[in-house]
Amino acid sequence: MAAFDPWDPAFVADPYPAYAELRARGRVHHYEPTGQWLVPHHADVSALLRDRRLGRTYLHRFTHEEFGRTPPPPEHEPFHTLNDHGMLDLEPPDHTRIRRLVAKAFTPRTVERLVPYVRGLAGELVSALAEAGGGDLLTDLAEPLPVAVIAEMLGIPEADRAALRPWSAEICGMYELNPSEETARRAVRASVEFSEYLRELIAARREKPGEDLISGLIAAHDAGDRLTEQEMVSTCVLLLNAGHEATVNATVNGWWALLRHPGQLAALRADHSLVPTAVEELLRYDTPLQLFERWVLEDIEIGGTVIPRGAELALLFGSANHDPAVFTDPGRLDLTRADNPHISFSAGIHYCIGAPLARIELAALMTALLERAPALALAAEPERRPNFVIRGLTGLPVSL
Ligand code: HEM
Repeated sequence: MAAFDPWDPAFVADPYPAYAELRARGRVHHYEPTGQWLVPHHADVSALLRDRRLGRTYLHRFTHEEFGRTPPPPEHEPFHTLNDHGMLDLEPPDHTRIRRLVAKAFTPRTVERLVPYVRGLAGELVSALAEAGGGDLLTDLAEPLPVAVIAEMLGIPEADRAALRPWSAEICGMYELNPSEETARRAVRASVEFSEYLRELIAARREKPGEDLISGLIAAHDAGDRLTEQEMVSTCVLLLNAGHEATVNATVNGWWALLRHPGQLAALRADHSLVPTAVEELLRYDTPLQLFERWVLEDIEIGGTVIPRGAELALLFGSANHDPAVFTDPGRLDLTRADNPHISFSAGIHYCIGAPLARIELAALMTALLERAPALALAAEPERRPNFVIRGLTGLPVSL
């Protein structure tokens, strides 16, 4: 029997059989090692993401003590201060206020204007890879594109961009299940450095505004005192991290899946008009963010089980995306799949604000690879990162 065990490399390599077991066994499962309730079905995950009796945080309604939780140790405070003031970890009304401001930069129309820049950059990166005869799809392509795009949007000077990936990686360590003390220590250090860096950049933009999103947020801030200084720092860090982390992994997970399915890759090479459905199918087939949590703010019932206030749900996105109740033959990679209500960008009020941008980036990278690297092949078997929640590879060596 395939067991749900986020610390077992065999499970991380292929969690989908264990998800099938969970779905067959019931709608909700208490999981001792994290104290969470696992939710594996698409219908439940989808409904719970929209359920206002749940929250990404409880701190807008209760103290840690009132909610029956232990406050984090004071030495972790820099991480929590940074994290808890970003819109992803806020609930209304604060979430609504911040999201409204940021959303202006991410409407499909605004993002559409970035298309020529994103396509141009994807083309240049793939050409460089082709000239070199191959390389690592992760470091040569999947990382530099989304990092450059989000850094450009926020107006991060080119010389400073190398620090973004390491800061982001260390902070993201905290989003895995039961992070270690060492992970917390690294995340705290990265939070302090990243925050300091952004405070200085915000001060510089305040002196001399530009066309970038940081200058836009400052203008909104100064006009109506709509964002506190901390919210501005936290929002920038969230945008910089969320703005590349999942796109990087979606690219390498997706291309590895293609390389393991030569028939599907050949069909895509023969017909580039499949790119839009291929992007969606790859986001479903090997879900880049496997799990998101929600706090239970009022008692709820799932499939006859009462989950009390104070409990935590672990919504299994990877499982929802492989639920046969919604997807015909979910284990099959089908780049022509038309009816594809995958949940990889979430749902409800925290639905990914960057989804239109992510789609443009993934499609631009795919098209550039199809056009400029038609002989792309695997040069060596890639390795999975050990992380479960943020699902990716340590590299993807390819020859062209
Ligand atoms: C393939 C790429 C991406 C995936 C799979 C993805 C996935 C997600 C998911 C699942 C959530 C919601 C989590 C929850 O409900 O708890 C989310 C939120 C968010 N994402 Fe993305 N994302 C991607 C790319 C991006 C990009 C390019 C940006 C650009 C800025 C971005 C910015 C955000 C932000 C700011 C939020 C918080 C929204 C809120 O709380 O209202 N993401 N993303």
